[in-house]
Amino acid sequence: WPAYAPLVHAINTLKKEKNAVILAHNYMTPDIFGLVGDYRGDSLGLAIEATKTDADMIIQGGVHFMAETSKILCPDKRVLIPSMRAGCSLASSITGDDVKLIKQRYPGIPVVTYVNTSADVKAESDICCTSSNAVAIVEHIAAEMGVNKVIMIPDEFLAKNVAKQTNIEVIAWHGRCEVHARFSAQDVREMRESNPGVTVLAHPECPPEVVAESDFTGSTKAMSDYVSDNRPKNVILLTECSMSDNVAMANPDTDFVRPCNLCPHMKRITLENMYQCLRDETNEVLVPEDMRVKAYDAVMRMINVTF
Ligand code: 13P
Ligand code: SF4
Repeated sequence: WPAYAPLVHAINTLKKEKNAVILAHNYMTPDIFGLVGDYRGDSLGLAIEATKTDADMIIQGGVHFMAETSKILCPDKRVLIPSMRAGCSLASSITGDDVKLIKQRYPGIPVVTYVNTSADVKAESDICCTSSNAVAIVEHIAAEMGVNKVIMIPDEFLAKNVAKQTNIEVIAWHGRCEVHARFSAQDVREMRESNPGVTVLAHPECPPEVVAESDFTGSTKAMSDYVSDNRPKNVILLTECSMSDNVAMANPDTDFVRPCNLCPHMKRITLENMYQCLRDETNEVLVPEDMRVKAYDAVMRMINVTF
């Protein structure tokens, strides 16, 4: 038996005893993603699953803003996260007070907020978006509010990538994902030279010049679906390292060239601390009710537009 087998067994037993579910983001390591995760997916998919589950407890296999989103959507459930230190460079780039100041500077312009933010930022926003629906959300809110401009926070690169796909003017903030910002266009050209014929997929948190050099851009789920649907012979996923491991498990005929960057926040979630969190019911994520109600409106407005 592999060393992790007893932990996997213990986690799966505790889940049943406590009526708990594990929502596992695509960046979780394969042991969590494949062996204890009940639902797997991108930020949007996990948020939708949180609204559907009848479990009493959600264990977030992901970072803090994802756990907060689950709590915002499911106030009656207990939401736990295995490590309170699992943050996000985008979420920490902006506060609710910053958003208040931005709104004062651009009165009447809607604020579209990426889900990679804290609850106080969502609470100050008109609508949320994820990497899988950003263009549609920008166009929807601009039309609904009768304007041709939106504020899009906090990811500068996502905002610039969205701006290239719409006629709506996009005012950006200066947040960056510390994982995706590290890829460069030169990296992509060198990878193509050393791997002729390779298909390059990039997450939209990558710099625009990296996206321009890629064959496809999409959320973590969209990248995974692209590989399953198109079955490229060899592929590069310009994103977090565990993505290739997880997508490779489902696509044994594709070769994964693996230049990748680790997200230190995602990697703070381990099988060990997931077991402890479930056993001891520690690290509960709470959101003050007045803030939660306002953040709920922004998240639900997005979900209602998406479906
Ligand atoms: P997805 O919504 O595409 O899963 O992205 C989440 C994330 O944190 C990417 O860095
Ligand atoms: Fe945040 Fe980037 Fe890590 Fe995603 S990969 S959680 S955006 S730091």
